[in-house]
Amino acid sequence: MTIEIRPATAADAAAIADLHQRSWRSAYRGLLPDSYLDGPAGDQLAAHWSGAFAKDEPCRMMILIAMAPDGIAGFVAAWPKGPDRALIDNLHVAPGLRGGGLGRRLMGRAAAELRRLGFRSAFLEVIEGNHDARGFYRRLGGVEGAPFVEPIGGHPTRVIPVAWDDLAVLEAAGGP
Ligand SMILES: CC(C)(COP(=O)(O)OP(=O)(O)OC[C@H]1O[C@@H](n2cnc3c(N)ncnc32)[C@H](O)[C@@H]1OP(=O)(O)O)[C@@H](O)C(=O)NCCC(=O)NCCS
Repeated sequence: MTIEIRPATAADAAAIADLHQRSWRSAYRGLLPDSYLDGPAGDQLAAHWSGAFAKDEPCRMMILIAMAPDGIAGFVAAWPKGPDRALIDNLHVAPGLRGGGLGRRLMGRAAAELRRLGFRSAFLEVIEGNHDARGFYRRLGGVEGAPFVEPIGGHPTRVIPVAWDDLAVLEAAGGP
C-alpha cells in the first residue's frame, strides 16, 4: 500500500481531528480518564485542529499528513519553541497501521522539514505511562528527561520530555 506524506491544509483538519481522537482512545485508555476520552476530548481536538490552521505563522508551523488510498494514515505537527528549537507535537499513526514503519517515516520527514526551516533541535512530551511510544522514541535516538506534571484536557498528567539535540540524528533515524 502506498502512503504519501505531504503538508496538511485546512481541508485536512477534520480528518486529523478524527484520527487524533481515535488514536487517543486506543493508546491513552487507562492513561487519561474514560470520561474525558469518550466525552469532551473529541470537541476539544476538533477545535484545536480547526484553530491550528488559522494561526498567522504558516512558515513556522509544520503539520504533515500521511495519506493512504483509503484515507488518513497518520500525522505529525511541530511548533517553534525558540529561535532554532521545535516542539514536535502530536505524532499519531492510525491504529490498524502501527508497527509498519510509518511512525519512523513521519518523524524522519518532520526532522528534515524542520531542518529546512532552520531548526537545529527538537523535543516532545510523552505521557509517562505510554511505554510503547517511549520505546519508539528511544529507538529513534530520543533522550528522556525528568518527568513533570502537565494538565492534559484539564487532567494533571505525568509526562516525560524527550529531546533530540541534533535534528540530523532524527532525520537519519527516520530512514531514506
Ligand atoms: C508511537 C507511534 C507513532 C509509532 O509509530 P509506528 O508506525 O507504530 O512505529 P514504527 O513501525 O515506525 O516503529 C519504528 C521503530 O520503533 C520500534 N518500536 C516501536 N514501538 C516500540 C516499542 N514499544 N519499544 C521499542 N521499540 C519500538 C520499532 O520496532 C521500529 O524499529 P525497527 O524498525 O528497528 O524494528 C504509533 O505506534 C502510534 O501512533 N501510537 C499511538 C499514539 C501515540 O502514543 N503517539 C505518541 C504520542 S507522544
